[in-house]
Amino acid sequence: MAAEMALVKPISKFTNLSPKFSNPKGFCYSKFSTIRMSATTQPSTNKPSKKKAAKTTAIKETLLTPRFYTTDFDEMEMLFNTEINKNLNQDEFVALLQEFKTDYNQTHFVRNKEFKEAADKMQGPLRQIFVEFLERSCTAEFSGFLLYKELGRRLKKTNPVVAEIFSLMSRDEARHAGFLNKGLSDFNLALDLGFLTKARKYTFFKPKFIFYATYLSEKIGYWRYITIYRHLKANPEFQCYPIFEFFENWCQDENRHGDFFSALMKAQPQFLNDWKAKLWARFFCLSVYVTMYLNDCQRTAFYEGIGLNTKEFDMHVIIETNRTTARIFPAVLDVENPEFKRKLDRMVEINEKLIAVGESEDIPLVKNLKRIPIIAALVSELLAAYLMPPIESGSVDFAESEPQLVY
Ligand SMILES: [Fe+2]
Ligand SMILES: [Fe+2]
Repeated sequence: MAAEMALVKPISKFTNLSPKFSNPKGFCYSKFSTIRMSATTQPSTNKPSKKKAAKTTAIKETLLTPRFYTTDFDEMEMLFNTEINKNLNQDEFVALLQEFKTDYNQTHFVRNKEFKEAADKMQGPLRQIFVEFLERSCTAEFSGFLLYKELGRRLKKTNPVVAEIFSLMSRDEARHAGFLNKGLSDFNLALDLGFLTKARKYTFFKPKFIFYATYLSEKIGYWRYITIYRHLKANPEFQCYPIFEFFENWCQDENRHGDFFSALMKAQPQFLNDWKAKLWARFFCLSVYVTMYLNDCQRTAFYEGIGLNTKEFDMHVIIETNRTTARIFPAVLDVENPEFKRKLDRMVEINEKLIAVGESEDIPLVKNLKRIPIIAALVSELLAAYLMPPIESGSVDFAESEPQLVY
């Protein structure tokens, strides 16, 4: 995968990731994206040919490929204008800002020589899948950095407190992405984040969808990191690379980010208190859970490599994320109903068929024809999961004529 994505750049350009990184398109990004890799052992005189450079600009996108998003920044400014929105609890935001300013993890991300030694010991398929884990995680953290950086910039005049929190969250994400990219250097690779920033396509999401998606992304990130950390603490024989030892404090950053989005959504009760909000909340839960399950089931070698059962790990993360999410979303899925997992497992089987068609030797037309019934089966399974009886939840009391927050 790394070779296919080669784009020769000196490593120093891409490991120096600071919160000053600018966003040339003025876009807002989600927590997800794809990646370009550069082999850092490449001699500096070996410049990429035009042909090769052109080849690398074609980014492979699939339904499960992490994406970037852009949003309506004018609407964002209206939502956080204290003159317009009387639901904004500025005292709560000031308290949150103090917590972010405390910067609990300022001195946490310090590497040692064990990183390189551990990477050198890792060989074969585990090494390859491990590199992919670092790539995907780094890219997710990096796009979070871009999203928060841009929101911090755009909201400065309208709501300086909220804007500063976004800027401090971008500081956290830059730190996380930088630490992961340093991890890639242990494998003689570096992510071309500059290329990524410019070359990706962007999907437009309205602010309320950005809130749902980013809240879920932060909370699921928290549960993934803390679950891996606790598992490896209890089973140190699987501790194959020191980055996991940093996950305990690291995931507290993600938890704080999620809590901030929770406060943002409480300040926008129109996004939480009607039937449309319930339908969208269920839709985003399903999208995030299914995407993670299908992605992880394609990478079982990684989870097995650190002693986890992929499906059990994912179900634990989904159940815990869903319980956390139920505190703020007006409705969530009944993920603890065994039928939900059965549906996820059927989606994995269908997805495997879809991958097999993609990898076959058939001509594109035949591949597309073969895909039609498989995609129909996947859509029908998704719809059935979506229509399962949901769980009413949330912290907004619908019984009142005016929305009331219940803490
Ligand atoms: Fe992060
Ligand atoms: Fe985060």
